[in-house]
This record gives sequence, C-alpha cells and structure tokens, in this order.
Amino acid sequence: MTHDVAVIPGDGIGPEVIDAVRPLLEDAAREYDFELTFTDFDWGTEHYLEHGEMMPDDGTDEIADHDAILLGAVGHPDVPDHVTLRGLMLPIRKTFDQYICKRPSVLFDGVESPLRGYDSGDIDLVVYRENTEGEYADVGGREHRGFDNEVAIQSAVFTRTGVERIVRAAFEEAEERDGKLTNVTKSNAQAYGMVLWDDVFDEVSEEYPDVETERLLVDAASMDFIRRPDEFDVVVASNLFGDILTDIGAIISGSMGLAPSANINPSDDVPSMFEPVHGSAPDIVGQGVANPLATVLSGSMLLDDLGESAAADALWRAVAEQLADDSAPRTPDLGGDAGTLDVVADLRDRL
Ligand code: NAD
Ligand code: IPM
Ligand code: MN
Repeated sequence: MTHDVAVIPGDGIGPEVIDAVRPLLEDAAREYDFELTFTDFDWGTEHYLEHGEMMPDDGTDEIADHDAILLGAVGHPDVPDHVTLRGLMLPIRKTFDQYICKRPSVLFDGVESPLRGYDSGDIDLVVYRENTEGEYADVGGREHRGFDNEVAIQSAVFTRTGVERIVRAAFEEAEERDGKLTNVTKSNAQAYGMVLWDDVFDEVSEEYPDVETERLLVDAASMDFIRRPDEFDVVVASNLFGDILTDIGAIISGSMGLAPSANINPSDDVPSMFEPVHGSAPDIVGQGVANPLATVLSGSMLLDDLGESAAADALWRAVAEQLADDSAPRTPDLGGDAGTLDVVADLRDRL
C-alpha cells in the first residue's frame, strides 16, 4: 500500500520540525510494510516575498489528490499574520472542509505539568474544535480607513449543519472514550450563534443517552482547564474557543512542543491535514532546539488516519517511552538541553 503525503514545511521552525520528523515516518513505513511518498510544496512566507502569494492560485488543486497533508507552521515576523495565515493554512482547512480539528492533550509519564499535583495520565482530554466557520468566517469588512469614523465588522457564522456535524463527531468520540462530553460556548453573551450551538447540542445529545454531558461557558471552562483538567474527557467548542483552549491544554500538559493536531474531513474524497498546535516560533527559529514531538505525534495521527494504526501506535509509544526515560534527550521547553535532531535520533532507535 502506498500513501502520498503532501508536505508543506512553511515558516519559522516549521521546516526544522518537518525535516526532523520525515525520517521517522519513513522508518515507521518500512517497519510496518507500507510505502509513503512525500511531495514537498515550498509554500509560505518566502514564497510570498518572492511571488506575492503564499501559494499558487491553484495550490489547493495541486494537493487535492494526496492522501494526507503534513504542515509545519505558517507565520513570519516580516508579514502580517492575517496575510500569511489567510493565504495558506486557513484556506486549506476550508477548501477541504476539514471540519473536525481534533486536539488531544495528554500529560505523559516523565513530563512535569506547571500545575501542582498532576501525574502522568491525570490529564488526558481531547478537544473537538469546529474548524470551518464560527468566529473564523471570512465575513466582515473595514470602512473609512484612517478616519475617525473608521469601522470594522467581523461576523461570526454558525450554521445548523456546521454545528451539528462537529457536535456529532464529538459525541461519537466520547462514546469511544470515557463517555463524557463537555460543551463549551458563551451563550450568556452571544445570543444567536452560541444559542443555536447549545440548541443543536441538546438535540444531538438525545441520540447519545450513554454519554454524560456537561455545559460550560468558555470563561469558566478556561478556569477549569487549570483547576480540574483531570475531569475532562472530550470537549467540543467553536473555532476560536477551541483554538484558545488547546493552547491551555498544551501548556498544562507540559509544552506547546508536545501538542498535536489533526484537521479532519472524514470523507475519503479530500485529504485531511496534520500539524502541530504550535506556530512558527520566531523566538527560537534557527537554533535547532524546537521540540519535534508535537509534529511526531501529529505524524502518528496522520498514519492513523491513513489506516496504518499499528505504525501510528508504535510512533506514539516511542514518544511516550522517550518522555518516560529520564536519561533520554529533551529539548529546552521540557527542561533539557538537547537539540531537535538528538530527540529524533533517539526516537528512531526506539522505533
Ligand atoms: P507559537 O506557538 O509559535 O509560540 C509560542 C511559544 O511557544 C514561543 O515561546 C515558542 O518558542 C514556543 N514554542 C512553540 N513551538 C515550540 C516547539 N516546537 N518547541 C519549543 N517551543 C515551542 O505562537 P506565537 O508566537 O503566538 O506565533 C508565532 C507565529 O506563528 C505567528 O505568526 C502566528 O500567527 C503563527 N501561528 C501559526 C500556527 C500554525 O501554523 N498552525 C499556529 C499558531 C501560531
Ligand atoms: C492554530 C493557530 C491558527 C488558528 C492561527 C495561526 C490562524 O493558532 O492552528 O491553533 O487559530 O487556527
Ligand atoms: Mn492556535
């Protein structure tokens, strides 16, 4: 079996973590007897500075036939983020209708949480983030620029279909896991979109009587991610709230450098995209110290999506074993002094 993966290293530490991880995926393929072919796309801010666009006009067509997309990161200090992200990563999520953004937060054995009193496995939750609409809808405008009466309108868009499909996916996941689902909205202040969301959540919940549900406002949910992260199992949230909660989820489980992410369209017609939760980290770019594990775990999710679950498990396990071994190399974000490549070399041995 051969799987074609489109690789977009992107900006900042994106290329560093992608280059580091690729050999691991190749090892996993060799070990588990399937083939991976990688096609590289040099899209990103360098491409923008040279050609005036983050990717070609027909960029998404070029990657549409691949089985999966592996993305590093996008974002560069020299170009505004709304140009770079809206020119590359966000359009891929939307064009391929990758409506499930699945983001696990796991406190691995051997990793210290900044929260007191949590041990390995105490934090083990997954956020299902709506990934195509909500607060990220490209709807709005800016008028009278530079004048006193300048106005900017940024609209959030919530559709019944859009809410229902992410909520349903989250219920399905909760059935597979510990049977608990937390719905996060802000319907005390946002009386239209968020109330539609809650209504749909309640309707869908009737189909899943075995799943215990809980409802939190996003401000309280942010507090509870810190106060009682051990009590969460599956969490479903809008695009923006899911974005914010998953940075909290990343840091309470040790580091941004450990948090993986999958942008999934469950249909086989279009590719899903796998990327770390973190960004291009301009503060550490070029130093060779970026933690590659978020990308490795994203690679594991990619293999799982391709149906290579044994290889996916092996990769995930190799990371867990490495983190549990206090003599193994770790990058500075985890309190070590090893480089990106040391971590990967050790992982290759374990794999
Ligand atoms: P960031 O995630 O890039 O960095 C936040 C902090 O976490 C920094 O201190 C950074 O050094 C650290 N960090 C991140 N990844 C790390 C890793 N693998 N190993 C060790 N430390 C790591 O967030 P930011 O600084 O807010 O954003 C930087 C740029 O990235 C911006 O342009 C932003 O828009 C973009 N961004 C892109 C994505 C993406 O492409 N998926 C995600 C988030 C942010
Ligand atoms: C993420 C990032 C992106 C998002 C940004 C860079 C647009 O923060 O993947 O979490 O908000 O989705
Ligand atoms: Mn984010």
